[in-house]
Amino acid sequence: MVRSVAGLNILVAIIYNRHICRNNEGVRVIRVAVTPDLVLDDEMYELARYALSWCAPEQVEGFTWERFVTRESWTLVPDVENPDIPFFKAEFVIKLAAPWQQTVKLNVWHSADVRRDGAPLPHSHPWNFRGYVLLGGYEEDRYELSGGQVEAQPGQVHLAGMVNNVPLTTFHEVRRVLVPDRTLSLMDCDLGIKNAWGYLDPDTGVYTPCIKSEVDARFKPLMLARNPHLRK
Ligand SMILES: [Fe+2]
Repeated sequence: MVRSVAGLNILVAIIYNRHICRNNEGVRVIRVAVTPDLVLDDEMYELARYALSWCAPEQVEGFTWERFVTRESWTLVPDVENPDIPFFKAEFVIKLAAPWQQTVKLNVWHSADVRRDGAPLPHSHPWNFRGYVLLGGYEEDRYELSGGQVEAQPGQVHLAGMVNNVPLTTFHEVRRVLVPDRTLSLMDCDLGIKNAWGYLDPDTGVYTPCIKSEVDARFKPLMLARNPHLRK
Protein backbone atom coordinates (compact mmCIF):
# COMPACT_ATOMS: atom_id res chain seq x y z
CA MET A 1 0.00 0.00 0.00
CA VAL A 2 1.47 3.37 -1.04
CA ARG A 3 0.33 6.70 0.42
CA SER A 4 1.41 10.28 -0.27
CA VAL A 5 1.88 12.21 2.98
CA ALA A 6 3.52 15.68 3.08
CA GLY A 7 5.33 15.09 -0.15
CA LEU A 8 6.75 11.79 0.92
CA ASN A 9 5.79 8.48 -0.47
CA ILE A 10 5.39 6.27 2.51
CA LEU A 11 5.13 2.60 2.00
CA VAL A 12 3.47 0.91 4.90
CA ALA A 13 4.19 -2.77 4.92
CA ILE A 14 2.45 -4.91 7.46
CA ILE A 15 4.15 -8.25 7.84
CA TYR A 16 2.61 -10.24 10.66
CA ASN A 17 2.81 -7.74 13.53
CA ARG A 18 5.46 -5.59 11.89
CA HIS A 19 4.61 -2.07 10.81
CA ILE A 20 7.33 -0.82 8.53
CA CYS A 21 7.44 2.66 7.01
CA ARG A 22 9.77 3.75 4.21
CA ASN A 23 10.45 7.24 2.93
CA ASN A 24 12.13 8.55 -0.22
CA GLU A 25 15.57 8.32 1.36
CA GLY A 26 15.28 4.58 1.98
CA VAL A 27 14.10 2.20 4.60
CA ARG A 28 12.94 3.82 7.81
CA VAL A 29 11.35 1.44 10.28
CA ILE A 30 9.42 3.22 12.99
CA ARG A 31 7.97 0.51 15.18
CA VAL A 32 8.13 -3.25 15.25
CA ALA A 33 6.16 -5.67 17.42
CA VAL A 34 8.82 -8.32 17.96
CA THR A 35 6.23 -10.19 20.00
CA PRO A 36 2.71 -8.96 20.81
CA ASP A 37 4.11 -7.52 24.05
CA LEU A 38 7.60 -6.43 23.00
CA VAL A 39 7.37 -3.38 20.78
CA LEU A 40 10.61 -1.71 19.69
CA ASP A 41 11.21 1.47 17.77
CA ASP A 42 13.98 3.34 16.04
CA GLU A 43 14.56 5.77 18.93
CA MET A 44 15.33 2.83 21.21
CA TYR A 45 17.66 1.41 18.59
CA GLU A 46 19.54 4.67 18.07
CA LEU A 47 20.01 5.18 21.83
CA ALA A 48 21.29 1.64 22.25
CA ARG A 49 23.64 2.09 19.32
CA TYR A 50 24.93 5.36 20.77
CA ALA A 51 25.56 3.77 24.18
CA LEU A 52 27.40 0.91 22.49
CA SER A 53 29.58 3.36 20.59
CA TRP A 54 31.32 4.40 23.79
CA CYS A 55 31.11 1.29 25.98
CA ALA A 56 31.76 -1.41 23.34
CA PRO A 57 32.57 0.37 20.07
CA GLU A 58 33.65 -2.83 18.34
CA GLN A 59 30.05 -4.08 18.66
CA VAL A 60 28.42 -1.20 16.82
CA GLU A 61 28.90 -2.51 13.29
CA GLY A 62 27.23 -5.82 14.10
CA PHE A 63 24.40 -4.20 16.03
CA THR A 64 22.10 -3.78 13.07
CA TRP A 65 18.45 -2.82 13.04
CA GLU A 66 17.63 -6.26 11.64
CA ARG A 67 19.36 -7.91 14.59
CA PHE A 68 17.66 -5.52 17.00
CA VAL A 69 14.16 -6.50 15.87
CA THR A 70 14.80 -10.22 15.44
CA ARG A 71 12.80 -12.29 17.93
CA GLU A 72 15.70 -14.65 18.58
CA SER A 73 17.87 -11.73 19.75
CA TRP A 74 15.62 -11.31 22.76
CA THR A 75 14.96 -13.35 25.86
CA LEU A 76 11.65 -12.68 27.57
CA VAL A 77 12.51 -12.97 31.26
CA PRO A 78 9.52 -14.34 33.21
CA ASP A 79 8.25 -13.11 36.54
CA VAL A 80 7.93 -16.24 38.68
CA GLU A 81 5.60 -14.44 41.08
CA ASN A 82 3.33 -13.26 38.27
CA PRO A 83 3.51 -15.95 35.59
CA ASP A 84 0.53 -14.49 33.72
CA ILE A 85 2.51 -11.48 32.52
CA PRO A 86 4.64 -12.22 29.43
CA PHE A 87 7.89 -10.94 30.96
CA PHE A 88 9.17 -8.42 33.48
CA LYS A 89 12.00 -7.49 31.18
CA ALA A 90 13.23 -8.42 27.74
CA GLU A 91 16.96 -8.91 27.39
CA PHE A 92 19.30 -8.78 24.41
CA VAL A 93 22.81 -10.06 25.12
CA ILE A 94 24.92 -8.05 22.72
CA LYS A 95 28.34 -9.16 23.88
CA LEU A 96 29.18 -12.38 25.71
CA ALA A 97 32.22 -14.22 24.44
CA ALA A 98 35.74 -15.29 25.36
CA PRO A 99 37.83 -13.91 26.97
CA TRP A 100 34.78 -12.77 28.97
CA GLN A 101 36.34 -9.48 30.02
CA GLN A 102 33.13 -7.62 29.25
CA THR A 103 29.47 -8.57 28.90
CA VAL A 104 26.98 -6.10 27.43
CA LYS A 105 23.21 -6.51 27.64
CA LEU A 106 20.25 -4.40 26.65
CA ASN A 107 17.05 -4.49 28.70
CA VAL A 108 13.52 -3.30 27.98
CA TRP A 109 11.65 -3.12 31.27
CA HIS A 110 8.00 -4.02 31.61
CA SER A 111 7.59 -4.30 35.38
CA ALA A 112 9.35 -4.80 38.70
CA ASP A 113 12.01 -7.46 39.25
CA VAL A 114 10.80 -8.96 42.52
CA ARG A 115 11.18 -12.63 43.29
CA ARG A 116 9.31 -13.21 46.54
CA ASP A 117 5.79 -11.89 46.54
CA GLY A 118 5.17 -9.39 49.31
CA ALA A 119 8.64 -9.50 50.81
CA PRO A 120 12.06 -8.42 49.54
CA LEU A 121 14.42 -11.03 48.15
CA PRO A 122 17.22 -9.00 46.59
CA HIS A 123 19.74 -10.65 44.29
CA SER A 124 23.37 -10.06 43.44
CA HIS A 125 25.17 -10.31 40.11
CA PRO A 126 28.37 -12.19 39.27
CA TRP A 127 30.10 -9.06 38.05
CA ASN A 128 30.47 -5.37 38.74
CA PHE A 129 28.30 -3.54 36.25
CA ARG A 130 27.18 -0.11 35.18
CA GLY A 131 23.54 0.25 34.21
CA TYR A 132 23.10 3.09 31.73
CA VAL A 133 19.48 4.23 31.71
CA LEU A 134 18.69 5.25 28.13
CA LEU A 135 14.94 5.82 28.32
CA GLY A 136 12.39 6.00 31.13
CA GLY A 137 13.59 5.03 34.58
CA TYR A 138 13.16 2.68 37.52
CA GLU A 139 13.22 2.60 41.28
CA GLU A 140 15.54 0.19 43.04
CA ASP A 141 16.02 -1.02 46.61
CA ARG A 142 19.65 -1.81 47.44
CA TYR A 143 21.18 -3.86 50.24
CA GLU A 144 24.72 -4.43 51.47
CA LEU A 145 25.87 -7.14 53.86
CA SER A 146 28.49 -5.74 56.22
CA GLY A 147 29.81 -7.64 59.23
CA GLY A 148 26.71 -9.81 59.29
CA GLN A 149 24.43 -6.74 59.27
CA VAL A 150 22.15 -5.84 56.38
CA GLU A 151 22.18 -2.18 55.37
CA ALA A 152 19.24 -1.12 53.20
CA GLN A 153 19.06 1.78 50.75
CA PRO A 154 15.46 1.76 49.57
CA GLY A 155 13.91 3.91 46.87
CA GLN A 156 16.93 4.68 44.68
CA VAL A 157 15.56 6.31 41.51
CA HIS A 158 17.47 5.96 38.26
CA LEU A 159 16.30 8.09 35.34
CA ALA A 160 17.28 8.37 31.69
CA GLY A 161 20.77 9.84 31.45
CA MET A 162 21.89 8.38 34.80
CA VAL A 163 24.31 5.55 35.49
CA ASN A 164 23.57 2.93 38.13
CA ASN A 165 26.82 1.48 39.48
CA VAL A 166 26.23 -1.99 40.93
CA PRO A 167 29.25 -3.69 42.53
CA LEU A 168 29.58 -7.42 43.16
CA THR A 169 28.75 -6.92 46.84
CA THR A 170 25.42 -5.18 46.25
CA PHE A 171 22.06 -6.95 46.36
CA HIS A 172 19.13 -5.21 44.74
CA GLU A 173 15.57 -5.34 43.44
CA VAL A 174 13.93 -3.14 40.85
CA ARG A 175 10.72 -2.30 42.70
CA ARG A 176 9.02 -0.09 40.12
CA VAL A 177 9.40 0.68 36.43
CA LEU A 178 8.54 4.30 35.76
CA VAL A 179 7.73 3.96 32.05
CA PRO A 180 6.67 0.36 31.44
CA ASP A 181 7.79 -1.10 28.09
CA ARG A 182 9.72 2.05 27.24
CA THR A 183 12.34 1.99 29.94
CA LEU A 184 15.56 0.97 28.25
CA SER A 185 18.89 0.28 29.95
CA LEU A 186 22.25 -1.05 28.89
CA MET A 187 24.33 -3.18 31.26
CA ASP A 188 28.09 -2.91 30.88
CA CYS A 189 29.50 -5.77 32.98
CA ASP A 190 33.08 -6.49 34.00
CA LEU A 191 34.67 -9.93 34.06
CA GLY A 192 32.22 -12.36 35.69
CA ILE A 193 32.69 -14.95 38.43
CA LYS A 194 31.06 -18.32 37.69
CA ASN A 195 27.87 -19.00 39.69
CA ALA A 196 28.36 -15.89 41.83
CA TRP A 197 24.69 -14.95 41.64
CA GLY A 198 22.76 -15.17 44.87
CA TYR A 199 19.88 -14.01 47.04
CA LEU A 200 19.98 -12.21 50.36
CA ASP A 201 17.25 -12.51 52.95
CA PRO A 202 17.22 -8.98 54.41
CA ASP A 203 15.54 -10.17 57.60
CA THR A 204 18.16 -12.76 58.49
CA GLY A 205 21.23 -11.80 56.43
CA VAL A 206 21.30 -15.35 55.02
CA TYR A 207 22.83 -15.67 51.54
CA THR A 208 21.58 -18.38 49.17
CA PRO A 209 23.40 -19.03 45.87
CA CYS A 210 21.04 -18.95 42.88
CA ILE A 211 21.95 -22.51 41.93
CA LYS A 212 20.52 -23.70 45.27
CA SER A 213 17.49 -21.44 45.24
CA GLU A 214 13.93 -22.68 44.74
CA VAL A 215 13.27 -19.42 42.86
CA ASP A 216 15.58 -20.57 40.09
CA ALA A 217 13.96 -24.01 40.01
CA ARG A 218 10.63 -22.35 39.13
CA PHE A 219 12.28 -19.82 36.83
CA LYS A 220 14.00 -22.12 34.34
CA PRO A 221 10.92 -23.99 32.98
CA LEU A 222 9.08 -20.69 32.51
CA MET A 223 12.09 -19.19 30.77
CA LEU A 224 12.21 -22.03 28.23
CA ALA A 225 8.44 -21.93 27.70
CA ARG A 226 8.58 -18.23 26.84
CA ASN A 227 11.67 -18.53 24.66
CA PRO A 228 11.50 -21.58 22.39
CA HIS A 229 14.71 -20.53 20.63
CA LEU A 230 16.62 -21.25 23.86
CA ARG A 231 15.60 -24.93 23.87
CA LYS A 232 18.80 -26.37 22.42
FE1 LIG B 1 19.67 -7.30 39.01
